[in-house]
Amino acid sequence: KKNSSESRGALIVLEGLDRSGKTSQSTRLHSFLDGLGYSVESWRFPDRNTGVGQMISSYLANESQLDDRAIHLLFSANRWEKRRLSDKFAAFASSQAERAASRRASILQIQEELLGFGDDEIIGFLKRLDSHVKGEWAMKAAGISLMETKLRTGKTLIVDRYSYSGVAFSSAKGLDIEWCKAPEMGLLAPDLKAAERGGYGGERYEQLEFQRKVAKSYQTLRDSSWKTIDACCPVEDVEMQIREVVSDCVVTCEKGKSLSQLWS
Ligand code: TYD
Repeated sequence: KKNSSESRGALIVLEGLDRSGKTSQSTRLHSFLDGLGYSVESWRFPDRNTGVGQMISSYLANESQLDDRAIHLLFSANRWEKRRLSDKFAAFASSQAERAASRRASILQIQEELLGFGDDEIIGFLKRLDSHVKGEWAMKAAGISLMETKLRTGKTLIVDRYSYSGVAFSSAKGLDIEWCKAPEMGLLAPDLKAAERGGYGGERYEQLEFQRKVAKSYQTLRDSSWKTIDACCPVEDVEMQIREVVSDCVVTCEKGKSLSQLWS
């Protein structure tokens, strides 16, 4: 594969109503791209593994109650925490990896120095340390990164739901759409936005009436840059529709395309 400096992975976002089959399609797309030799990762929002993600998860399961605006901002924060590391932590991580690689510090010493950072940053860092112990030290540490660095280092990301879900679901509750869009500003803009039409069901948002409102909000957000996939036809057909739009996108990004930000 070509290795120009601007060459990067593609940010592919799949959006759609609940139960529209996004998740199984993202698995199929992952295998397809993998088979073509692309380096690919599947992501989803909300990412329930972080501290913020756990708050979202308990809200969605009706185990906690939150103000509509508060939950909106949590969904957004959940994307921001995956965008990139704080500069402070990134600098710390690479210097520590170096110390560890040259055996100037033990894992225990480094762990103690991690005390000033957030849980998720620490967990992520410690996970990498594990693989360092297996002998991959500095390389992995340099790769401590989230969305932006993944893309820049050539990973293609297939993301199941993103800011568009954030805006569509919250505005369907009656919140002002511009207010909903504001906290998403500056997140990375996808290279491909595919929306699936069709398909629902016991989490909080799975009532039919609400899904209709969400569908309307999605329509407001969608412009000609979106690829619309008809999710009502057989899964194999949906898969083919997705492959077609994605293939062009990954090639374009591989040849070189700059990253842009929402809302562009
Ligand atoms: P998800 O975990 O994708 O569940 P599902 O597998 O049912 O699609 O999303 C959970 C719910 O959260 C889903 O109803 C959409 C909603 N949501 C928001 O309201 N805002 C957001 O920013 C995101 C990403 C999802």
